[in-house]
Amino acid sequence: MEVVIVESVAELGSIVADAIESLLERKPDAVLGLATGSSPVPVYDELLARFARGRISFGRARAFLLDEYVGLPHGHPESYRSVIERSFTRRVDFAPGAVMGPDGNACDLTAACAAYESAIASAGGVDLQLLGVGADGHIGFNEPGSSLGSRTRLKTLTSQTRVDNARFFESKDNVPRHVLTQGVGTILDARHLVLVASGSGKAEPVAKVVEGPVTAMVPGSALQLHPHVTVVLDEVAASALALSDYYRETWAAKPPWQGL
Ligand code: GLP
Repeated sequence: MEVVIVESVAELGSIVADAIESLLERKPDAVLGLATGSSPVPVYDELLARFARGRISFGRARAFLLDEYVGLPHGHPESYRSVIERSFTRRVDFAPGAVMGPDGNACDLTAACAAYESAIASAGGVDLQLLGVGADGHIGFNEPGSSLGSRTRLKTLTSQTRVDNARFFESKDNVPRHVLTQGVGTILDARHLVLVASGSGKAEPVAKVVEGPVTAMVPGSALQLHPHVTVVLDEVAASALALSDYYRETWAAKPPWQGL
């Protein structure tokens, strides 16, 4: 696991956008895994800026979302599908149908989860998966206790996650209880995992994910089992890490040709 500590969220966005740009240069039809939430916004903003300058194209790429609320009407402004379209995918040149998410309105949710797994596999798997982390160490919507081998499935949100997401729904009561999320095992199948976090609320979950024991109680800690993980943090989100000096030295001494 490589930990990169940056001075600003703009730098965080730029470093991760570099990795995505370089992936698309090598493989224009790459499969991206997209996350919602505020953490990846600097990445999307930087990609939008590069797209506007003609430096990057998503015309042959595909994308899969991590998760979706169950039961929000199609087009609801807070469905993750709407959020990612508004903040990123509709503003670049993805082809129609190239961006997929779990169908939280399916009559048969179990079948929808299986179909989503098949769609990811048929696309050849995810090349680069962007991730944020929840206050309790969740990735996607894999709450504590999630099997580290789990696949896309229905989950029930914890009370804390519903409180955390209430800001988008006026009140916690309006936050759906149920979601569909890629499983921890699904996420670990991606070839490169890039977790981004900024701000003081992330210091504790980041320390648990990066340096704590691997445990289903902190689903993000499963990233320690993956061969290619990059964690990009601002100074505050990195502030509870025991080995932060070592991560800084390693990054400063990294040969530029290595990339992320
Ligand atoms: C939600 C999403 C996660 C995200 C987390 C943190 O629970 N399902 O994918 O990582 O929120 O969100 P934020 O980045 O806004 O702190």
